[in-house]
Amino acid sequence: MRVLSGIQPSGRLHIGNYFGAIRQHLQLQAENEAFYFMASYHALTTVQNPNELRALTLGVAMDYLALGLDPEKTALFTQQDVPAVTELTWILSCVTPVGLLERAVSYKDKVAQGLMANHGLFAYPVLQAADILIYLSNLVPVGQDQKQHIEITRDIAAKFNAQFGEILVIPEPYILEETAVVPGIDGRKMSKSYGNEIGMFEEGKSLKKKVMSVVTDSAGVEDPKDPAESTPYLLLSLMASPDETQEWADRYKNGGMGYGEVKKRLLELLDETFGPYRERRRELEADPAYVADVLREGGRRARLVANGVMEQVREAVGLPISYEPPR
Ligand code: ADP
Ligand code: TRP
Repeated sequence: MRVLSGIQPSGRLHIGNYFGAIRQHLQLQAENEAFYFMASYHALTTVQNPNELRALTLGVAMDYLALGLDPEKTALFTQQDVPAVTELTWILSCVTPVGLLERAVSYKDKVAQGLMANHGLFAYPVLQAADILIYLSNLVPVGQDQKQHIEITRDIAAKFNAQFGEILVIPEPYILEETAVVPGIDGRKMSKSYGNEIGMFEEGKSLKKKVMSVVTDSAGVEDPKDPAESTPYLLLSLMASPDETQEWADRYKNGGMGYGEVKKRLLELLDETFGPYRERRRELEADPAYVADVLREGGRRARLVANGVMEQVREAVGLPISYEPPR
């Protein structure tokens, strides 16, 4: 099966990205043909400082590699290394009803946050559809917030196929219920754009400060508490064993437990889970040439597939090109 996903390099990655998406990306690489990329054109809708965009893009690549992406097996690449994606975006735009994009919640959210409503932000789901469809991807592992984008992709693919023939594959989203929405330190969905994140490679004092500031209600130590409503518990349950998670749930319900105790354990679990990858992350940072090689090879493999599909698409819509198509 062909698996594909992208992550915007619009900030440092956080544990919501990890549990919601990256962990599944890494698991799926063993049994599938996987393509993962830095959605840098998507990030350009909001990050418009070239040095920052360059650094963040490389940072996401290092995160993937540190966490165990196997570059021998999986293609890791930047979106701009597959220019045909933007060509397909235009072709798909011509079968995309404006109403479909007007209903996209991510656009409405970003405008509501005060971002300039540029055309890239509006057309964002069409570019995402091109990302997915150009590799004839079967499965797209993402967090819950991307569900609507995958639905839009499916709609666009069906419209293209109805008009021009059955070329594109209708992809399925892959969303794990347990980790679909990881809460941030303020209890809302963890997101770079809310500034409520716990960084994947955060450590020491800054990590401790974050954990201690995770929201709780004003229940006293002796009061029984509802674990399902409690952010520290929800975060802890992402990392603790099922038995341990159950014990904490019981302690919540029985009363006699303060939030400080849960947070202390949460901090330990974060160190246990991400600590082993921090050293590897530092090594990668010291070896940018290796990271560049990985991305060059990943891009080459991605273009091979994308350019083949593009050739079929151009033929189907009646726009063959007059030179040897790139491979
Ligand atoms: P952000 O919202 O922080 O900008 P992205 O949009 O770049 O994150 O998301 C990258 C991937 O991580 C997507 O698949 C997205 O669904 C997933 N993701 C992001 N935040 C969360 C979260 N809080 N819980 C679960 N998955 C998430
Ligand atoms: N929009 C996605 C996000 O913000 C990133 C993305 C771009 C993506 N292209 C994709 C995800 C293709 C999956 C497939 O997280």
